[in-house]
Amino acid sequence: MNVIVVNNFNRMSEEAAKLLVAQVRTKPGSVLGLATGSTPLGVYKLLAEYHQAGVDFSRVITFNLDEYIGLAPDHPQSYRYYMEENLFSKINIKQENTHVPSGIAPDLEAECRRYEEAIRQAGGIDLQLLGIGSNGHIGFNEPGTPFDSTTQIVDLTESTIRDNSRFFDSPDEVPTQAVSMGIKSIMQAKSIVLIASGGSKADAVCAAVHGPVTPEVPASVLQLHPSVTIVVDQAAGGRL
Ligand code: PGA
Repeated sequence: MNVIVVNNFNRMSEEAAKLLVAQVRTKPGSVLGLATGSTPLGVYKLLAEYHQAGVDFSRVITFNLDEYIGLAPDHPQSYRYYMEENLFSKINIKQENTHVPSGIAPDLEAECRRYEEAIRQAGGIDLQLLGIGSNGHIGFNEPGTPFDSTTQIVDLTESTIRDNSRFFDSPDEVPTQAVSMGIKSIMQAKSIVLIASGGSKADAVCAAVHGPVTPEVPASVLQLHPSVTIVVDQAAGGRL
């Protein structure tokens, strides 16, 4: 693993944005795997700036990691809404090239299979951007998720619901399930960039990088991937 520790959130965002832009410049039709949450917000802001400065996203294809079950695309806390707000509306990506799992499909099992197949049809993910949960999750793959999992319906843990309740009016409003790409889906990406910021991630980052490879720390599986870059700020890297 290539681990980069930088001073702060802005530097972390710059490093990750540079890697994404290099990918798009090298291969204009890149397939990018994207994440939501607080951590990638700076990266997406910078991608919008890179676009203003001429970077072309017109051939880029994206697949997001996950979506809450029960939230429609126009719900302000849905991940489709987040992506539109924070990135897709700010770059020249084609709407039909952006993919977020549906959290309201009538047959969610079929939606999981459809999503996995769509990634395959696109040729697989070239570069996957990941955050990490304070419990070590990647995507919404909570501790205990088998390493051979593909896109599936997942139950969120209490800790994830608590962590994400800051985006909702009350913890009761946080959906308890999601559709998430699996660990295997993530590991099939050709390269992976994981970003983390803040002291609440320090234990998870340390366990992911130095701990045993175990489903109890989903991010530890990345030790088995041939091309992973971890970019953390000093607080998140505090235990490395
Ligand atoms: P965060 O979430 O970026 O909002 O901290 C990361 C994650 O849960 O994967």
